[in-house]
Amino acid sequence: DGSPAEKLFNQGYSYTYDDVIFLPHYIDFPTDAVNLSTKLSRNIPLSIPCVSSPMDTVTESYMAAAMAAVGGIGIIHSNATPSEQADMIRSVKSRRVPILSSPVFKTPDSRIVNEFEGDDVPFVFVTQSGNEKSKLLGYVAKSDWLGLKDTEIKLGEIMRTDANVSVPCHYDLGQINGKLKEEGRDFVVLEKEGGEVVDVVTKEEVERVKGYPKLGKGTVGSDGRWMVGAAIGTRGSDKERLEHLVKAGVDVIVLDSSQGNSIYQIEMIKYVKQTYPELDVIGGNVVTMSQAQNLIKAGVDGLRVGMGSGSICTTQEVCAVGRGQATAVYKVSSIATQSGIPVIADGGISFSGHIVKALVLGASTVMMGSFLAGSTEAPGAYELNEKGLQVKKYRGMGSLEAMTKGSDQRYLGDTAKLKIAQGVVGAVADKGSVLKHVPYTMQAVKQGFQDLGASSLRSAHDLLRSKTLRLEVRTAAAQVEGGVHGLASHEKKAF
Ligand code: XMP
Repeated sequence: DGSPAEKLFNQGYSYTYDDVIFLPHYIDFPTDAVNLSTKLSRNIPLSIPCVSSPMDTVTESYMAAAMAAVGGIGIIHSNATPSEQADMIRSVKSRRVPILSSPVFKTPDSRIVNEFEGDDVPFVFVTQSGNEKSKLLGYVAKSDWLGLKDTEIKLGEIMRTDANVSVPCHYDLGQINGKLKEEGRDFVVLEKEGGEVVDVVTKEEVERVKGYPKLGKGTVGSDGRWMVGAAIGTRGSDKERLEHLVKAGVDVIVLDSSQGNSIYQIEMIKYVKQTYPELDVIGGNVVTMSQAQNLIKAGVDGLRVGMGSGSICTTQEVCAVGRGQATAVYKVSSIATQSGIPVIADGGISFSGHIVKALVLGASTVMMGSFLAGSTEAPGAYELNEKGLQVKKYRGMGSLEAMTKGSDQRYLGDTAKLKIAQGVVGAVADKGSVLKHVPYTMQAVKQGFQDLGASSLRSAHDLLRSKTLRLEVRTAAAQVEGGVHGLASHEKKAF
């Protein structure tokens, strides 16, 4: 019944995830017995196969912390100055709570002057520097300034200076919750050893997270801090950027390019491996076996696969180059496995079923942009679109808008300075917190694995290569049948 992958993917067609479907196999274990632990790259183990994409509307420190908290990892984008990018790494590394509140900091000399009206700011924190980079001197609660007649009064004169508002920044949610209860407080301030403020965590946020699926240990390095990756390009200046990131403690580097099989990338891979032998470097993007082979020869620790399959990508239309993502993942994985190099299936993930397909076809992880961009943890604020739907902006890194901010080197922008867009700007619907929707999605992926009789990624790959798992191509009508059809309307929520 059906065809082995080897036959299906060698017929000269480029298949996407939606083109193919697995035939069910035999179930002899419960869903909970499925283990999705995996590797991002040679030396980075993950407990779930999820990676957030290095895009400026997807991964900054908040997203990376949340991805690490659920057992995946985030890759911080490089559409920022090297020191801004390094600061994002430091921010992930300095905390153990996947929560970001944006506290307002002021100097002791600041005046009230109706400054906080309009903003829903419950507290203002007073530090010498007026930002989080120095010791906390005190705080002013909203109730303290609301009744004040004298708007000339300085914050330093009315601030509260009670002790016991601070906890070490390495405290996890459980420890913070204990402290909140013990002291009967509405917030605690996370501080580094020298007293520098890292963040403020409120009782409300802790309550919100407590309602989500239970968090495990997360992706923690040997130093006890969350692991985080960062993207860089392949220009000379990226060597300097890399130095900043290494100093900030980055755990893995992703060379961000839409066509990774280039002399620039090969030289960069060699440079990274020579200069920082302990640091894993992920190359890409690639979609063919020969592209992959070149990067493997150069010494990559992981490969990122996909060209033009992303939801905001126009590379295939603009440049006539790329490959259907199911074929690309299968082909590259078949060669990468031989060298023990994990593959990241990058782009084109809209449902949990796409994740199952990517992983079974050989990938070790999936990298997601649009799937995560509507989350609370993605950068940017929610807006209401014309239909009244709550959305967040999501843009391709090759869109004119993103390139104007500096990401053009992903597309090897030439010296003529003529920018050609290979991506678009759009918006995606509100999805709530990553801390909730990623664990639910993983449960759905486990059910897919169970249907296939695969209790782990390794067993799925073995079943595929041994031709036990069979696939078929879905006709256009079969694809329509496989989705919701024939209803006037339907509930879209999955959990
Ligand atoms: P999804 O489908 O998860 O895809 O939204 C995210 C991936 O898309 C790639 N990417 C781009 N590709 N033009 C492209 O052709 C772009 O402007 C662009 N921006 C991102 C990238 O690999 C990302 O992880």
